[in-house]
Amino acid sequence: MRLATEIQGDEASTQKLHRADYETSKHSSKKYETPSDLSSGPSEIPEHFALAAQATNDAVRVWIVATGALAWPQGLEALLGYDRSAAADTIGFWQKLIHPQDRARAAGSIRDALAGEVNHWTGEYRLRHRDGSYLDLLERAAIERDAKGAAVRFVGSLMDVTARKQLQDQLVRSQKMEAFGQLAGGVAHDFNNFLTTILGYSDLLLDELGMKGEVAGHISEIRNAAGRASVLTAQLLAFSRKHPLAPCVLEINSLINNLERSLLRLLGEDISVECHFHRGKEGTHAKVDPGQLTQVLLNLVVNAREAMHHGGRLTLETSVVSVAGSEEHELGCEEPAPGNYVCISITDTGIGMSDEVKQHLFEPFFTTKDAGRGSGLGLATSYGIVRQSGGHICVESEVGKGTTVKIFLPEVPAPPPPSYKKPGANKMPTGVETILVLEDDISVRHLSVRVLRSLGYQVLEAASGDDAQQLVGRSENKKIDLLLTDMVMPQMSGRSFADWLNKTSPQTKVVFISGYLEESIHPGDRRSQEMFFLPKPFDSEQLAEKIREALDSAATR
Ligand SMILES: Nc1ncnc2c1ncn2[C@@H]1O[C@H](COP(=O)(O)OP(=O)(O)OP(=O)(O)O)[C@@H](O)[C@H]1O
Ligand SMILES: [Mg+2]
Repeated sequence: MRLATEIQGDEASTQKLHRADYETSKHSSKKYETPSDLSSGPSEIPEHFALAAQATNDAVRVWIVATGALAWPQGLEALLGYDRSAAADTIGFWQKLIHPQDRARAAGSIRDALAGEVNHWTGEYRLRHRDGSYLDLLERAAIERDAKGAAVRFVGSLMDVTARKQLQDQLVRSQKMEAFGQLAGGVAHDFNNFLTTILGYSDLLLDELGMKGEVAGHISEIRNAAGRASVLTAQLLAFSRKHPLAPCVLEINSLINNLERSLLRLLGEDISVECHFHRGKEGTHAKVDPGQLTQVLLNLVVNAREAMHHGGRLTLETSVVSVAGSEEHELGCEEPAPGNYVCISITDTGIGMSDEVKQHLFEPFFTTKDAGRGSGLGLATSYGIVRQSGGHICVESEVGKGTTVKIFLPEVPAPPPPSYKKPGANKMPTGVETILVLEDDISVRHLSVRVLRSLGYQVLEAASGDDAQQLVGRSENKKIDLLLTDMVMPQMSGRSFADWLNKTSPQTKVVFISGYLEESIHPGDRRSQEMFFLPKPFDSEQLAEKIREALDSAATR
C-alpha cells in the first residue's frame, strides 16, 4: 500500500501516516486513528479477521520503521510469555530477544527488504520466551511504503514452528545417518571379500603347506592383521545395520553383572561404579546379540571414562518403560513403536558435551580426540547395533555436569529354560558329498573350493548363475548334495539360482554366504527358513562346520 503523505519520522508524522493510511484505503474497513492505537491494537477490524487471527495462536507485531515504535496487537503473552510491563514497545525489545546467532542474519535480511522495493518479508529465527527457552519462529510480514517508496510500517505475524523444525532436523539427521550407513556398508562389504581371502590363504599356508619357523611367524602376523581388520569391517557393518547379528533372548541385568568386573578394570581406581537394577519377577529380558550389546556397553563406558579425566562416578541403571501410542517423545528419540522397553542408562559425572558435539555424536569418524587416539566409531557402531536390534539410543548431556546415554530395547518375555546341547568336536568335519560353489568373487571362490576339496568333498565351481546352469546341464546324472552360493551377485542372485536348481534337484541343501545382513537384501533374494547362512568373513573351520551342519540336517526344501 502506498501512502500519500511523506513521513518525517516524528510522532506527528506517525499520526499523519495513520490518517493517510485511513484516507488511502477507504475501501477497506481497517482503521487506525491515534498513535495510542499502536499499543492498544486496531480499533476496528471485522470480527472474522480478529477471530481468525486469534485462532492461529500467532503473535502479531507492528513496527513503525522510522520511530522504532513497536506494538503487539496479539500474542505477546500467549506466544512469548511477556506482559505489557516488559517494555515491549520499542524495536529494541525484539532485537534483545532474538537469538544471538540469528540476529545479524535476520536483521540484515529485514534491512535489505526495507531498503528495496518489496512489500513483504519472510524469515525464520529464534526468539527467547520469557521462560528462557528459544522458540523457532516463522515471521511473515507486510511492508507498507510511502509515495516515495520508503518503508513506513512493518507488520509481521510470528508463527511458532519449533515442533516442525525439530522434526525437520530429525529427518535430516536420520537421512544423513542413512547415507553414511550405505557408504560404510558398501566399503565393508567389499573389504570382507578381501579379508576372507587373506584369512583363508593364511590358514592354507599354515595348515596345508605346513609352513614352519620364521615364515610361519610372518604368515601369522598377516592373519592377525586381517583378523583385526575384520573387527573394523564388523564395526562399519554394525553401524550401517548390515552386520549379521545373532540375537538371542538375554537377561539384561545378568549381562551387566557379568560385565561389571571387566568394567571396573577398564575404569581405573578414581572412578566409582554404582549399579541399580530393575527387579522384575522373571528378570528383564530383551532380544539382542550378546556380543554386540557387550560391545555397545564397553564403548559407552570407555567414553564415560574418557569424559572423567579427574575421576568421578559411573552409574549403570536398568529399568522398564512403557511407550503408549501417542507419547512419541517419551524416550527423547525418534519414533519409538508403542510397547515396553528395557532401558539401560549409563551416567557419568564427566565434562559433558557441547551442542556442536551433540549434533554429530553418532556420525562415524566424529571424534574430539587428538588424531590417532580415537576412531570416532564407538557411538556410530553403538547406534547401528541398537537400531538394528529394534531399539533406540539417546543422549542427555550438560557441559560441566555429565552425560547420560540411554539405550532402549524392546522387552520380551523370559525364555523357557535351555535344553542340553552336545559339545562340538574340535577337528574340522569332513565329507565326500558333491558341492557346487557359486561365487562371483574369484578369490573367495578359489579359497572355498580349496578348503572343501582338502576336506574330501567333490567340488564343482561356477562364477555366475548362467555358468552354474550350464554346469548342472552338463553333469546331468551327477547328484549335487549341496549348493554353496553367494547371495548377492550381479546378474542372477544366489536365491534365484537356488530356486532354479530346486526344480530339478529338490534334495540339494543350500548354504548362503554373504557380507550383508539378510534383511538388507532384496526380499525376493533372501534365503528361506531351511537354507543355511554363513556370514563373511569366515575362516576354514567355520566353512567346514556350516557345510557339515547343512548336509546333516534333515531339512529338505
Ligand atoms: N560420555 C561422554 N561425555 C562427553 N563426551 C562424549 C561422551 N561420549 C562421547 N562423547 C563425545 O563424542 C565423541 C564421539 O564418541 P565416539 O565414542 O563415537 O568416538 P571416540 O570416543 O572419540 O572414539 P572411539 O570410541 O572410536 O575411540 C567423542 O570424541 C566425545 O567428544
Ligand atoms: Mg568412544
